[in-house]
Amino acid sequence: MDLKLRNAAVLVTGGSRGIGLAIAKGFVAEGARVAICGRDQARLEAAAAEIGGGTIGFQADLFQPDDCRAVVERAIAHFGGLDVLINNASTNVDGTPGSLEDMTDPQVMERFMGKTMGAIRCTRAALPALKKAGAGRVVNIGGSSARTVGRHRPGAPSGLPQGIGNAALANFTRHLAEEVARDGIVANIIHPSLTRTDRHIGRMERRAASSNISIEAAEAEVGDTFPIGRVPTPEDIVPLVLLFASPLAAAITGQALAVDGGIGMSVQY
Ligand SMILES: NC(=O)c1ccc[n+]([C@@H]2O[C@H](COP(=O)([O-])OP(=O)(O)OC[C@H]3O[C@@H](n4cnc5c(N)ncnc54)[C@H](OP(=O)(O)O)[C@@H]3O)[C@@H](O)[C@H]2O)c1
Repeated sequence: MDLKLRNAAVLVTGGSRGIGLAIAKGFVAEGARVAICGRDQARLEAAAAEIGGGTIGFQADLFQPDDCRAVVERAIAHFGGLDVLINNASTNVDGTPGSLEDMTDPQVMERFMGKTMGAIRCTRAALPALKKAGAGRVVNIGGSSARTVGRHRPGAPSGLPQGIGNAALANFTRHLAEEVARDGIVANIIHPSLTRTDRHIGRMERRAASSNISIEAAEAEVGDTFPIGRVPTPEDIVPLVLLFASPLAAAITGQALAVDGGIGMSVQY
C-alpha cells in the first residue's frame, strides 16, 4: 500500500534512540523528510546519520516550554511547513518508589511533566502549520500503563507516574481529535507495552539480579509472558505509526490502539 508519505515533513520528538529512532527510520523508508529532537547533541548527530535521508536533529529539552516551541518552529522553518508530529519523547521513570507513601510530588508527576506536557506544548506550537498542511497528523506514543496496572508484587515500582502521564496523554489525544477534526487533522495514540529498547537491557539485568538467574533466563521468562512469545521491538510499533500518519487515515481519529504483543488482556472494543 502506498501510504502517500513521500516528501511529508515529519517531526519525531525524542527520535535519537529507542522507539523514536525506529519511527524516524520508518518515515525515511517511506520517502518522508524527518526531523528529530533530544537533549544529547552527540547522540542526535549519530542518530541523524544512522537514519539517513537528510534527517536533521534539533537539540531541545522538552521539559522547557520555550524549547518545545523553538523545536517545532525550527522544524517548520527547515521544511517550510509541517505535516506530521509524532509526540514520542519521554523521561525514563523506571526507578520510581513502590509505595505512594514514599513518593514525592515531583515523582508522582514525573511522567506527566516529562512527557505529557511536552506533547501538549509541541502540539500547540505545531497546530498552525498542521492546519495549513490540510491533512495534518498527530500521533502520540502513550503506554499500556494508561490502561493497566503492571505491578505484580507489593513493593515493586508502582507504575503510578507512568499511568498518570499516559492516561492524561490519551485523554488529551481524544480532546485534540475533536477540536481539530474540521481542520483536516487527525490525532491518535498508540500504547506500547514493555518494548525491547535500550531501557530493556537494564530492566533484564535488574530482574536477573533480583531473582538470582541469568539475563538470558530473565529474558526468556519475560518473553514468555507475551502471547506472541517474545518482547515486542521498536520496529513492531512503526507500521501503525505510519498508518496513523498517512493522509489515508483521514477518518481514523481519537483512537487508542495497543501494540503490546497481546499482553493487555482486558477487552477494549
Ligand atoms: N520502552 C518501553 O518499554 C516503553 C513502554 C511503553 C511506552 N513507551 C513509550 O514510548 C516512547 C519512547 O520510549 P523509548 O523506550 O524509546 O524511550 P528512550 O529509549 O528512553 O528514548 C527517549 C527519547 O526521548 C528523548 N528525550 C527524553 N527526555 C527528553 C526531553 N526532556 N527533551 C527532549 N527529548 C527527550 C531521548 O533523548 P535524550 O535523552 O538525548 O534527550 C530519546 O531520544 C516514550 O513515550 C515511552 O513512554 C516505552
